[in-house]
Amino acid sequence: MRCIKALIVLIVLGALGGLALIYSGLFNVAVDWKDPAPIAWVVHSTFINSVKAHARGIAAPASFTDAQVRAGFLHYKETCVYCHGGPGKDPGDIGKGLNPEPPYLVDTAKNWQPNEIFWIVKNGVRMTGMPSFAPVWKDDDIWNIVAFVQKLPTLKDEEYARMEQEANAPPPAR
Ligand code: HEC
Repeated sequence: MRCIKALIVLIVLGALGGLALIYSGLFNVAVDWKDPAPIAWVVHSTFINSVKAHARGIAAPASFTDAQVRAGFLHYKETCVYCHGGPGKDPGDIGKGLNPEPPYLVDTAKNWQPNEIFWIVKNGVRMTGMPSFAPVWKDDDIWNIVAFVQKLPTLKDEEYARMEQEANAPPPAR
């Protein structure tokens, strides 16, 4: 009986503490402080395991064509590079001010399977800056992006710069 009373007191105290935190404004919502290590571990592990579980049923194409990689690059340089940077490219102003920091995909893309990258780009990641692109792109567009993102770890700075030049070049005169 004493145990139950102690438990009820603890629950009530916890709830009061939670309410005090919400209403006092003491919690600092600014992005410029990092989560304590145990919380960062919980959040990051939940993210990784959630993506792996949800992407399990998605079948990726066995391989991608060069045309898909080029089409994916056009989306990447317009949309993703601002947050994630690219070979020889720093992220833009938006990417520099986010918490969690957008990972540098040139280093991290190899940690993910194609179906997992597809899931992340399609669905986004809650409570981070990673948007869902489902409202704007069809699955085929997203597979093109996956085709390009997979190339990032082996793409040299010069190759990325050359792809940018080719994309910006005016169409040949007729
Ligand atoms: C507004 C900023 C923003 C944009 C634009 C953005 N992302 Fe992200 N992205 C993030 C953030 C922040 C994370 C980290 C999420 C986390 O840590 O849970 C992330 C995570 C990812 C991851 C997982 C990487 C890892 O190593 O954990 C992939 C893959 C990814 N984004 C791909 C893309 C692609 C491809 C695009 C463009 C179509 C894109 N993102 C556009 C902010 C952005």
